[in-house]
Amino acid sequence: MFDPKDGRTVMLAFDHGYFQGPTTGLERVDQTILPLAPYADCLMLTRGIQRSVIPASTTKAIALRASGGTSMISPMEEWEGEIDGKKAKFGRPGFEPLSNESTALNIEEAIRLNASVLAVQVFIGSAYERQSLKNLTDLVDAASRYGIGVMGVTAVGRAMARTPQYFRLATRIMAELGANVVKCYYTDTEFDTVTSCCPVPIVIAGGKKLPEFDALKMCANAIAQGASGVDMGRNIFQSDAPVAMMQAVRGVVHEGLSAEQGFALYNDLKTKMA
Ligand code: 5RP
Repeated sequence: MFDPKDGRTVMLAFDHGYFQGPTTGLERVDQTILPLAPYADCLMLTRGIQRSVIPASTTKAIALRASGGTSMISPMEEWEGEIDGKKAKFGRPGFEPLSNESTALNIEEAIRLNASVLAVQVFIGSAYERQSLKNLTDLVDAASRYGIGVMGVTAVGRAMARTPQYFRLATRIMAELGANVVKCYYTDTEFDTVTSCCPVPIVIAGGKKLPEFDALKMCANAIAQGASGVDMGRNIFQSDAPVAMMQAVRGVVHEGLSAEQGFALYNDLKTKMA
């Protein structure tokens, strides 16, 4: 999944449907994602989309979603009642409904689908922390027998702060427990300490859609501070010009373009494609 020339990767993430269904930009994966695939080093997807949409002839590395079992509408554990005559509502501390995942495929399926790496969500600090770490270690044990890697994906929920401290903790735990690569979010401060404390490569998620320049700046900053690449979805497939954005991200990751140069490339390609 890493380009041997520079050790970096541009992963295109479009596995969101595994808990979100057809989110914006992924209603028709065949129409929106296939034109982007040639510019990716690795496709991060579910087995359902790989079987039904991705041509078997693809030469791209495959990062296969290997955990799941919950959805955006999984029920919260909340207590509603009255205290001293006033309405009160409490959530169970650390409870993230999405965190109640199990592993979602077996190793034979991963081999059949030619996976390079299995992606497993890890919910440090949630009620199901232990279970999600067990998912990670089970997949590491199974995948390493066949030379397949495991990518630990740092999940962030309402109870989990997106701070450098949190990402240092989460990424280091996943690496110590056997993840070959970890994915986390970029932080505006101290991101260099997240990468330096983690003994395996880190790739950043894009997160919610940002203006194109800001997304390219985030990529450039992350690479400058030690990230080995990006694993981005919404900031590419929800862009006004996804193919242009994909190439601009590639320029930043693999060609050392600054955010300004990447943005100029994006605008140039967008104009030519109009
Ligand atoms: C789902 C994921 C997504 O692949 C990840 O969030 C990347 O997508 P985006 O750049 O849209 O955040 O891991 O949990």
